[in-house]
Amino acid sequence: MCGIVGYIGAKQAQQILLEGLSKLEYRGYDSAGLAIYNGEVIQIEKTKGRLKDLADRLSVSELTGHIGIGHTRWATHGKPSDQNAHPHTDPETRFAVVHNGIIENYMELREELTAKGYHFVSETDTEVIAKLLADVDDGDLVSTVQKAVSHLTGAFALGVINQAEPDKLVAVRFASPLVVGVGKGENFIASDIPAILKYTRDVYVLEDGEMAVLTEDQVHLMKTDGTPVKRKTMRVTWDMETAEKGGYDHFMLKEIHEQPQAIRDTLSGRLKDGLVDLSGEISLLPQEIFQIDRIQIVACGTAYHAGLIGKYVFEKFTRLPVEVEIASEYRYRNPIITDRTLVIVISQSGETADTLAALREAQKSGAKVLAITNVVGSSVAREANEVITTWAGPEIAVASTKAYTTQLIALYLLATYFAQVLGTKDENECREVVKSLQQLPVQVEKTFDCETEIKELASKIADHEHLFYLGRGLDHAVALEGSLKMKELSYIHSEAYAAGELKHGPLALIEEGIPVISLATQESIFEKMISNIQEVKARGAYVVGIAKEDNTELQKTVDQVIYIPPIIDLLVPVLTVVPLQLLSYYTCLERGFDVDKPRNLAKSVTVE
Ligand code: G6P
Repeated sequence: MCGIVGYIGAKQAQQILLEGLSKLEYRGYDSAGLAIYNGEVIQIEKTKGRLKDLADRLSVSELTGHIGIGHTRWATHGKPSDQNAHPHTDPETRFAVVHNGIIENYMELREELTAKGYHFVSETDTEVIAKLLADVDDGDLVSTVQKAVSHLTGAFALGVINQAEPDKLVAVRFASPLVVGVGKGENFIASDIPAILKYTRDVYVLEDGEMAVLTEDQVHLMKTDGTPVKRKTMRVTWDMETAEKGGYDHFMLKEIHEQPQAIRDTLSGRLKDGLVDLSGEISLLPQEIFQIDRIQIVACGTAYHAGLIGKYVFEKFTRLPVEVEIASEYRYRNPIITDRTLVIVISQSGETADTLAALREAQKSGAKVLAITNVVGSSVAREANEVITTWAGPEIAVASTKAYTTQLIALYLLATYFAQVLGTKDENECREVVKSLQQLPVQVEKTFDCETEIKELASKIADHEHLFYLGRGLDHAVALEGSLKMKELSYIHSEAYAAGELKHGPLALIEEGIPVISLATQESIFEKMISNIQEVKARGAYVVGIAKEDNTELQKTVDQVIYIPPIIDLLVPVLTVVPLQLLSYYTCLERGFDVDKPRNLAKSVTVE
């Protein structure tokens, strides 16, 4: 995820910007750059690679000046390269821009600006902003930025400087984070507080649709239509380490809470006129989609669990047979693959050795491979025939959370898109799904209401050595993920079972007091699930049910119910996984283990 910094004040900007960027490294990046006005012109230095590479270049040709912007880029549009690195400029370098987010209508704007004679030197969506600024320039930086922004759709945080008004730094926020730091005789902008904490603890957190105009001595806040905004600065009392975690105690908790935004970002630009539109992203033609006679989903760990949900959704929507397989098994078992098989690989990192090998295996046998990955430019993304990127942003905690929910979103989008193309689902039903997908960020937010209850539950289960998770259908797939999270973090032995299968063996393990987390959200199989819950209840289990808010039945059978907000059954996994993530998080804390770095595990497994 990109990071932005900006400085205006009496000191030399270069070092402050570099230090600020170093505090944003945790967001993940592949290139970096600075733009500084030296009293005459805006100078740019940018490079693919690490901040060290940028610093090396700057040690040869230092950028002097008291106003500047800086950027760490996490590739979205276009590979990591010097050209694609920010800042971007107009042809005469009058304006320099750094951007975090995605401009959804950049193709349209790029075409319009190209027709007007602008020549683009990068593949980025950001470059259109720089050219647009030059195009609408009316001689006043603030109103020029306002005009340019009115043409943009999508999510963005921007920092802009202009050679003609070098005493002003302008920042804008639409759905990507941005803070303004207020100092004495100097002011700052940044994507996150750690970047400016060394210089000031007084900040404004910009809200969507707001902009800030910074001079050396003043900060003016306004809406992008010019309406002034009056707000007091917030005093940050966090230490640096807490600040890096956004005020949360651990990256995992931060990432759990980032899910509404990650879902919003992953949906962004992919919905059009109430339906899914992936035509600009994947090159599979309708006739090629018609040719597919089966789908294989291949992945590891949490991504594999996302694949299990994908199976339900794809089969329901497209009636194509779907197999889901663990990559380390798939690659060695000579699977049946033809040129009519679509292989979907799912990988947060895009670097998992087994997943990459499975991808190559599938391609060797003539299949097209579509990758769902969180890292643009990763090995999986580079080698796959088609890529759908999840916009979860960097995931730092080893236990995967927001990557999983965004993988689910990508699968829902893809299955709905296929159903639209194949005509296997009524258009109205597809519209219903799209509407419900759009409700998800808010519903996930509401799901966090259960956090206190989950915390108490964690203290109840923390001393147990065994745990069960039960569910049927989609609930079973989520139970597997909940159970994996619990194992990874709390080191409690935990099993997830298809509830109907319990009586064929594991029921023998149920004894007095054993906690059983039972997901019962699927209406069509609710009665069946109740029967299975009764089986464990009769053997003395402590049953925690998970159900939708409007369900009044489950509480009659179980010891405790955790409620999730209403949503169509198909999308329920995005909500039910949240209490399960929180439960493993708080149980881990109760047991005193390292949340972000569980023993024996790695974030990215690049060996077999
Ligand atoms: C490791 C991680 C898991 C992840 C799995 C697959 O085991 O700890 O969180 O689900 O690898 O990783 P990938 O990057 O391919 O999704």
